Amino acid sequence: YTFKEIMERKKRGEVLTLGEFDWIIANYLEDVIKDYQMSAFIAAIFFKGMTDKEVGDLTSSYLNSGITYNLDDVPGWKADKHSTGGVGDKITLIFTPLAASYGIKVAKLSGRALGQTGGTLDKLDSFPGFRSDLSETQFKNLLKENGMVIAAANHDLAPADAEIYALRDATQLIDSLPLIAASIMAKKLAIKTNSLILDVKVGSGAFMKDKESATALAKLMINIGKHHHRDVEVLLTDMEKPLGRTIGNALEVKEAWETLHGNGEADVIEIATTAVALTLVKAKVFANFETAKKSALSRLQSGQVVPFFKTLITAQGGDISILENYNEHFPTKNKVQIKADQDGYISYHDALNLGFLNIDLGGGRLHKTDVIDYAAGIIICQPDGSLVKTGDVVMELLTNKEPLASWTQRAQKSFTIDKAYRPKPVIEKIIN
Ligand code: URA
Repeated sequence: YTFKEIMERKKRGEVLTLGEFDWIIANYLEDVIKDYQMSAFIAAIFFKGMTDKEVGDLTSSYLNSGITYNLDDVPGWKADKHSTGGVGDKITLIFTPLAASYGIKVAKLSGRALGQTGGTLDKLDSFPGFRSDLSETQFKNLLKENGMVIAAANHDLAPADAEIYALRDATQLIDSLPLIAASIMAKKLAIKTNSLILDVKVGSGAFMKDKESATALAKLMINIGKHHHRDVEVLLTDMEKPLGRTIGNALEVKEAWETLHGNGEADVIEIATTAVALTLVKAKVFANFETAKKSALSRLQSGQVVPFFKTLITAQGGDISILENYNEHFPTKNKVQIKADQDGYISYHDALNLGFLNIDLGGGRLHKTDVIDYAAGIIICQPDGSLVKTGDVVMELLTNKEPLASWTQRAQKSFTIDKAYRPKPVIEKIIN
């Protein structure tokens, strides 16, 4: 093969082979193929698309670029859950300890913030000392000892994805259905669990903006799973509005902590308990979904899961005590209050805008090397559907930067206040 030949074929929309993908990925990792060439190749995929077979082959090439972890010697039901990326999405922080409290072994690779979306690893880094860069032995030992582990895809696991993910981020080539499917599934296939729940987000704050493309992405990932004998279930969930009542790293960790104490928002609770219930049915802990969900809900509300969260954080070196004196650890110099300019019911609709606003406040990265301010972010004081009065504080923007007037305008653009409120379920459908 040569790069020129393969590029020429993709440019013309021809169907590439597994051999060609393997060749291009291997040579890219060895720096024979350069970043600029790979960016062009990725762009060609972005514009020309891929057949389902090609997506499967690209996934295999990502997977073949590294090793896989064999969890056969870890007893019990091994489960995984992954989100395609959202704004305010702290579900993993609740799913993991909640599922583990039933004896499920949660083996999870998470990612960092990408575009407008937050990343679980960045949220967890709000805990001083937290380590997600784990070896295979450390990963398995944590799983055996505590029944849960959340790690970064390191240089052994699907390394091609990590490199290409960064290129895609820098070249505005994230929101491609085949590229997202291959990226997520390679990481999920690298660690073989018994069940996998994918939370596919749809709406302004997601990479898939409409239901058709989100459903297509879901089906593509289910198919890739089938080819690798993996049982995949998908929750299609709303990302028109942000999830929960906070956006920003430490703020979301605190919200997850409060949710585990029985004080969570309905949308967060709904997705977390549904994902756990589906897992519990697969693992045969419960015979049917309704009973599993009822149990997960009452367990979450009871506060029983808090010790599991403490174990998760502490076992990976994180200092959990920061949650006890939060304000001391996460001070912000400035707080901008966004107020209601009329009476009525509030509804949010622009998660994308809020995701980027969080980045500007300091809570995310525009460039890979940007340093995150864990304290920065957005508090949604009036959750979706609240009845507000003129002058009520709807949102607070927390930042250590000098506030810009445009931030207020952008925050105001993310909600409307109307005479009536039409609730919409956060889970649009379950696909399997
Ligand atoms: N999450 C991933 O892991 N990869 C993508 O491409 C998008 C979201």
